[in-house]
Amino acid sequence: MSSEKEQQYAKCRERAVALCEGERDVIAKMASLVGVLHNEMAQYYWTGFYRVVGGDLLIGPYQGTVGCVHIKFGRGVCGTALKLEETQVVPDVCKVPEHIACDSRTRSEIVVPVRDASGEIIAVLDVDSTEEGTFDEVDQRELERMVAEIFS
Ligand code: SME
Repeated sequence: MSSEKEQQYAKCRERAVALCEGERDVIAKMASLVGVLHNEMAQYYWTGFYRVVGGDLLIGPYQGTVGCVHIKFGRGVCGTALKLEETQVVPDVCKVPEHIACDSRTRSEIVVPVRDASGEIIAVLDVDSTEEGTFDEVDQRELERMVAEIFS
């Protein structure tokens, strides 16, 4: 039997995939996925994309408080996810010196690389929470699955 969180993600996936069906514009798909996730997932405080532009990260569609505009390759949790090409789950941002604090209320976060159909990383999906330890392997698996379905 699936957990409540898995059921919430299944609902989000269904809605986001339906919204993005037939859509090829990447920004439109990012905005739609952010809209669904941020409104459905109560524990999400900041939800957004940083796009890979010129090798670094540039802010894309997001919901929540005002986020940083530029993040250098390899900097912060987002830049680390891009550099290492793998999802970063941070249970307590206070224990990660490289974390970039755009909003001091953020306590935990997950950052998932987003690949296009050719396998190239085109963005990262960054989700922040004001609670410690919000994100686990369920969030990782479900978010990785969702971005693969929509962008790959
Ligand atoms: N969490 C990020 C910074 C971006 S904001 O939190 C919106 C990081 O350290 O990469």
